[in-house]
Amino acid sequence: MRNPAWTIDFARTATPVPTAVPEAPEAPAAHGEFRRDLRRALAQWPRSMPPKYFYDARGSALFDRICELPEYYPTRAELAILRERAAEIAAQIGPHAEIVEFGAGSLTKVRLLLDALVAPRRYLPIDISGEHLGAAAHRLREDYPQLAVEPVVADYTRQFVLPPPEANGRRVGFFPGSTIGNFDPDEALRFLEHAAQLLRGGGLLLGADLVKNPATLHAAYNDAEGVTAAFNLNLLRRANAELDCDFDLDGFSHCAFYNAPLRRIEMHLVSRRAQRVRLDGECFSFDEGDTLHTEISHKFTVEGLRGLAARAGFRPAAVWTDDARRFSVHWLEAPT
Ligand code: AVI
Repeated sequence: MRNPAWTIDFARTATPVPTAVPEAPEAPAAHGEFRRDLRRALAQWPRSMPPKYFYDARGSALFDRICELPEYYPTRAELAILRERAAEIAAQIGPHAEIVEFGAGSLTKVRLLLDALVAPRRYLPIDISGEHLGAAAHRLREDYPQLAVEPVVADYTRQFVLPPPEANGRRVGFFPGSTIGNFDPDEALRFLEHAAQLLRGGGLLLGADLVKNPATLHAAYNDAEGVTAAFNLNLLRRANAELDCDFDLDGFSHCAFYNAPLRRIEMHLVSRRAQRVRLDGECFSFDEGDTLHTEISHKFTVEGLRGLAARAGFRPAAVWTDDARRFSVHWLEAPT
């Protein structure tokens, strides 16, 4: 069943639409939305929050650490594909491209692409965490002085405006990391439909994690060092700091498991005891074992992902996987 808390509302554009800014402040009205979504999550059953709220500065830094964990294979597998297939990927993209990265984070993967591309024109990294994005964009400008780097602080799961494409520039989307898997299937389709329109005449380079042995998946989301647990619990820490909630961080446990029939990892915060939490004077009770569902991470088959992209209006073209077939990178041609 569709869960409204995960809905991408492309129609809701009344708040000021973030557009390209030079130094990337925080996205407007972020606290108001966080408050509204958390209240909605706590008031519904089952309880679930959109995963985008993980990514404040601390959450983004924890995610960067996750990407380096021995158990978390997706980043290494995708980097290996991008490194080994860079020339083929660059040939598909073509010269003078304008790269739009959705959910750019620390801008490491795009460097492999930029190094292989012929005369890339402009780079528009979109990310919800302005602080993180601003610092990463600054470092990228130093290393690629010829490239116009224009960060866009926005929630790319919603409607947003990009600066008009430059004359003769081919606009190419880059959506690595299998973040597409953090959408439910309807949201993924709607995101891809929106991307197909934004990228008309160009294409999308998309990373997608593949279905595999559940033990490998389980380990990737239950690392021995507890970084993923800290990342998950950071949501509550953030709610306490920004919304003046009173979550007891020791009162909740990280729980992540592979739901094989739905082909997805589910991440939850499980209440360790009966307790109450306050938000704006309202009280929400948790029994022992009650959960707040914080993330889904879908795993795909190559054909399943290509079918989804085709339904959204793309023409699926080349696909690359790593040797162990853990991860896939897709070149999807956008409609003209
Ligand atoms: C960002 N996203 C693709 C990660 C994933 O694997 O779903 C987020 C993550 N959650 C826990 N570990 C990593």
